[in-house]
Amino acid sequence: MDTADITAAIRNTYLAHSKAKTLEHAEQVTQTALWLADLYHLDPVKVKTAALLHDISVIMTPLEMYELAQKRGMSLDPAEEKYHFLLHQRISRLIAEEQFHLSDPAILSAVECHTTLKKSAGAYDKVIFIADKISWDREGVPPWYDELKRLAAVSLDEACYFYIRYQFDHNLLLMPHQWIAEACEDLKSTMCRKHKENKQMKIVNLNKEQVEDIEESLSAFDETYITYKMEGCIQIGIEDNGKLIAGLDACMTAFKILYVSTVFVDADYRRKGVGAMLIREMEKRAAEMGANTIRLDTFSWQGREFYEALGYEAVGHYENTEDGYEEFFFLKRIKPC
Ligand SMILES: [Fe+2]
Ligand SMILES: [Fe+2]
Repeated sequence: MDTADITAAIRNTYLAHSKAKTLEHAEQVTQTALWLADLYHLDPVKVKTAALLHDISVIMTPLEMYELAQKRGMSLDPAEEKYHFLLHQRISRLIAEEQFHLSDPAILSAVECHTTLKKSAGAYDKVIFIADKISWDREGVPPWYDELKRLAAVSLDEACYFYIRYQFDHNLLLMPHQWIAEACEDLKSTMCRKHKENKQMKIVNLNKEQVEDIEESLSAFDETYITYKMEGCIQIGIEDNGKLIAGLDACMTAFKILYVSTVFVDADYRRKGVGAMLIREMEKRAAEMGANTIRLDTFSWQGREFYEALGYEAVGHYENTEDGYEEFFFLKRIKPC
């Protein structure tokens, strides 16, 4: 079956079992997962297939799932023994393999752990896990919702760890499945390791040549800013073991508005907290300089997600339909110290 056939077959399976509501949820998860796939450079076809399939076991009752698991000799977690519906993630995988003949390990794994995550989870596992939570389909908005959505645009690990920790800290799990406990420990050590790695990185002041290099590499310097009288500049970078991996150039006008002309993060360090580290340092210095507003722009929607996650408000959008040029403008009010 080709991709379109599989997608149609999945949708028809939900509908044939009168599960239109679950299909609607699966479609929402798909939209969220595709947003994350674009952000984290994952294969959209795999992500779409996993997202559509993740709750396909809804075609069976929890008791039928339990009986099938026993028949297949699957080893069961005590939480699955007690609450059979917790098996639905693993049974969805079984259906994906046997009914839809899928064998891609990334898809099967992501379907299998979409509720609990698991140890050594991959990017596809994390995307479907987060997308399932963000596509909340019950009444009201849960208290963890906004923070999870914000973190999802910053780091998959941070988002997964935040959500799982929240569940444990607020006793929201009926009975913790071993996989979620292991995922929590695993993510905790990943976060600690990243924290140590980030500690090795240091903020440095850029010299004139470094600023020029960065601006040249981006061709992003907007000369309109230099017509204003500048009251000070922030030209900082981040070094990792002596290598410059990120840089930023910003100047403050007499109106106390800090214009950010350039933000650069080395491709190998993106979505790892480096950009956020740079922006936070800039905000700290801007407040020390007496700036009351930061103004920046970005040319991509990924950049837009990133700045929104850091509390910047989109105030304008410019688009040239002829050459496809697009630019978003952001502002953030800051309190001078
Ligand atoms: Fe589910
Ligand atoms: Fe779901």
